[in-house]
Formats: sequence, C-alpha cells, structure tokens
Amino acid sequence: MKKILLTGGLGFFCSRFFERYKNEYEILAVGKDELNITDKEKVFEVIENFKPNYVIHAAAIAVTDFCNKNPEIARKINVEGAVNVAKACKKYNSKLLFISTEQVFNGNKELGPYSEEDIPIPNTVYGQNKLEAEKLLKDILDELWIVRFTWLFGLSDRNKGIASNILWDTITSIIKGEKIYASPYEFRGMTYVYDMIENIIKVFNIPYGTYHIGSTNDMSRYDVVKHILSEMGLEERIDKILVKDEQKYKDAPRDVRLSTEKIKKYGIEFLTTKEAISKCIKEYKLNFK
Ligand SMILES: NC(=O)c1ccc[n+]([C@@H]2O[C@H](COP(=O)([O-])OP(=O)(O)OC[C@H]3O[C@@H](n4cnc5c(N)ncnc54)[C@H](OP(=O)(O)O)[C@@H]3O)[C@@H](O)[C@H]2O)c1
Repeated sequence: MKKILLTGGLGFFCSRFFERYKNEYEILAVGKDELNITDKEKVFEVIENFKPNYVIHAAAIAVTDFCNKNPEIARKINVEGAVNVAKACKKYNSKLLFISTEQVFNGNKELGPYSEEDIPIPNTVYGQNKLEAEKLLKDILDELWIVRFTWLFGLSDRNKGIASNILWDTITSIIKGEKIYASPYEFRGMTYVYDMIENIIKVFNIPYGTYHIGSTNDMSRYDVVKHILSEMGLEERIDKILVKDEQKYKDAPRDVRLSTEKIKKYGIEFLTTKEAISKCIKEYKLNFK
C-alpha cells in the first residue's frame, strides 16, 4: 500500500480525505498537536519515520482576516511551515502536493477566469503567503504538484473539521435567523469538498506542475445563495432571507475564478458549482419541500 501523509490532517478537507481513502492507502493524518509544521525537527522526524510516498500539505491558516491581522504568525505557518515540509520531502524522497488557492489572484485588476499562465497579484497576507510558498517550494523540489483550489463547500459531518463556506454559512445564517447579504458582482468557483476529494487523487498521475482545480462557476455569489435556498425548497422565503448587496464590489467586481482547462486535458473534470450544490443538497437530503 502506498503511504500518504496529510498535514493539517484534522481540517475540513483532510478529515474527509482520510475517511475516503483509509482503506486504499496507508494514511497518516496529523493534526497540529501531533505535528506543528513550524517545528522543523518534528517535521523531519515524522517524514523520516513514516516515509510517505506522497505528502499532501494542507496545514495552513486559511482565515484571511486573521492572516491580515497577524502577518508574522501567518507567514511562519503558511510559508516557513510549507518550506519545512518541502525540505523534509526532498531529504526523504516523498512527492509533495501543495494546496494553494484562488486567493493568489485577489489583487488582480482584470477579470477572471485566470489561467496558470496569468501572473497572480495577491492583496491579502493569506494570498501573498500562498504565492510565496509556491515560489519557494519550486526552488526546493522538482517532484511537486501545486494545486490552486477554488473555494470549497460542504456541510458539517460527525467528528470532522469544517471551514467557512457558502453552503454551511448560508445554513448557519438561516438557523440564527440572520439575513444573508450577497453581492451580484462577486464571482468565485465553488467546489463540493467531496468532489475535490474524488478528483485530487488523480493528480498523483499527472506531470508535476501548477494546476487550477475545482468547479467552474458562472453565477454571482448572490445567485449561488439564491440557488441554495431554492434547492432547499425555501423559494417563498428567499426575499426574507437574502439581500442583494448592490453596493459591494459594484465599482470593481471581484472575480477570482480559475480556468481549469489545463487540468481538464488530463481528464480531471468537475461539475459546475450550480450542479455541485444541487448534488450536495440532495446527498444530505436538505430539501424541505
Ligand atoms: N477550504 C477552502 O475553500 C480552500 C480553498 C483554497 C485553498 N485551501 C487550502 O486547502 C488547505 C486545507 O483547507 P481546509 O479548508 O481543510 O482548512 P482547515 O480546515 O483550516 O485545515 C487546515 C488545518 O491546518 C491546521 N494548522 C494550522 N496551523 C498549523 C500548524 N502550525 N501546524 C500544523 N497544522 C496547522 C489547522 O489546525 P487548527 O484548526 O487546529 O488550527 C487545520 O486543521 C489549506 O492549505 C487551505 O489554505 C482551502
């Protein structure tokens, strides 16, 4: 059995990845307490002992506001931590899959979708961290896949991590009785976490390099939330729950969508965001009509 080490192993993505593949691979999923990636010696020790064929480096602080407010902590984890992992992979011959983000494009003025050829201009600490890590890792390792995720979505599952996402945040607002403000000028790819998990494993069979990965999406954030509410059978309540935020991004639309044409050529394809949301709501039987 091939071995996979998951850093950030208890998070939203990795905790579900572990469940899905635990019988097909020998997986070591380490949380922050077991492996803090800022501890270089520990990183080397874990990789030396486990000798993974693959390392999926998912550990990060991915909360934009926190990173902006705490740039030193963010860099230590998101950049220096990634470098520690890459150096250990180099020493012990593990292939590294580094999870980066659409957020590397969040300062670009032109509209997406962006291809891997476009030059990213991140304007948040988180986006800057990920781009810096990408560059440093490429200098350290040849056996490296950098995959830039679109925004993941999914629901809370028993004993699994959860991160802020369009579907969970919508449901949380409904439960709390809060209104949802969504801009018709914001565009992002949004990918069902389980679709990402089905597809990401295929990356081990494609050439090393940088890839954009995830669902494509033609809908604005406002239209996505509307679609969620309608798929949940809450059409009659849409006007009460959802507010079209006409001011946000009006003068400069936010568009961090990724073109996934490159990875499609290797047979890695996703549902659209619209289709994926319908699928997820169906799988969790969340239609209340
Ligand atoms: N979710 C998305 O939409 C999305 C989109 C693009 C890219 N990504 C990237 O995908 C990866 C996984 O994201 P996710 O959504 O699964 O995020 P997540 O749930 O926040 O998982 C990241 C994990 O890293 C851990 N971590 C934080 N600092 C650490 C440290 N010093 N050492 C070791 N582990 C540490 C966190 O532990 P604590 O929670 O205990 O701090 C958390 O469990 C991240 O690299 C993220 O940047 C995610």
